[in-house]
Amino acid sequence: MTGVLKGRTAAVTGAARGIGAAIATALTRAGATVAVIDKDAEGAKTLAAELGGVPVVADLTEPDEAARALDDVVDALGTPDVFVNNAGILRAGDLTTSALDDWDAQFAVNTRAAYLAVRAAAGHMRRRRAGGSIVVVTSNCARTPRMDLGAYCASKAATDMMARCLALELAAEQIRVNTLCPGSCDTELQREQWRRLGIGPERQINGDPAKFRTGIPMGRLTAPEDVADLAIVLASDSARFVTGQSWHVDGGQTLP
Ligand SMILES: NC(=O)c1ccc[n+]([C@@H]2O[C@H](COP(=O)([O-])OP(=O)(O)OC[C@H]3O[C@@H](n4cnc5c(N)ncnc54)[C@H](O)[C@@H]3O)[C@@H](O)[C@H]2O)c1
Repeated sequence: MTGVLKGRTAAVTGAARGIGAAIATALTRAGATVAVIDKDAEGAKTLAAELGGVPVVADLTEPDEAARALDDVVDALGTPDVFVNNAGILRAGDLTTSALDDWDAQFAVNTRAAYLAVRAAAGHMRRRRAGGSIVVVTSNCARTPRMDLGAYCASKAATDMMARCLALELAAEQIRVNTLCPGSCDTELQREQWRRLGIGPERQINGDPAKFRTGIPMGRLTAPEDVADLAIVLASDSARFVTGQSWHVDGGQTLP
């Protein structure tokens, strides 16, 4: 995909590590100049320096910071042609006994902050009147119930629908909005969940009928780069007439 985004500008949230870092790296390789947005200042600065991009440090759960982050992107690079909302958290636990704080925290980042960020990005794109591509990273569990992930599933399902409604609102202005839905991916977010539940990758790859856990038919975890490569397609002109769609990158983990 080298060069397909030559001369374009992009911004990625939660880009200091994991899937966001892979997407920011792939966007750069595709020719875009990238703003690395994250609350982790060190991580954002390190990756932005590596990529020749711009670090933007913000806690996106704060409305003022989310708006300011997008203003900073526009000041540094101009209105982004591509905006990827990727920042997210996972706190595994069952719905009946989990702390209410876990529910609130996941909705604060996965749903509310996603709304704040895409709203700010879409506002800039609309004012520029030159279209754009917004990619929202949700999860394959936005549409498939999963054990131990009830609050996370609900927070991602809400964001998935928000993104599809946004696609409808923005279509006439040639701003496309699609969601990317990774399966169990080899990142720190996933490793934290394994520690919390006392499991490892093999449980996710093989599945566990006793707990109705899905396995991964293609036989391995999702790699961040698997997600990033599809993000480039959605960001590029190859997907110029594609909007309001959800794209699963999960090796068949949630095949019906
Ligand atoms: N890893 C998986 O198995 C998996 C599967 C499906 C979907 N996802 C989704 O993919 C996205 C990336 O996941 P990951 O595995 O790379 O996670 P990760 O924990 O490795 O990275 C998440 C990044 O988001 C940043 N972030 C978190 N809260 C933030 C906030 N309030 N403001 C700004 N930045 C914030 C973190 O600092 C971190 O750099 C998330 O939305 C996650 O829900 C992950």
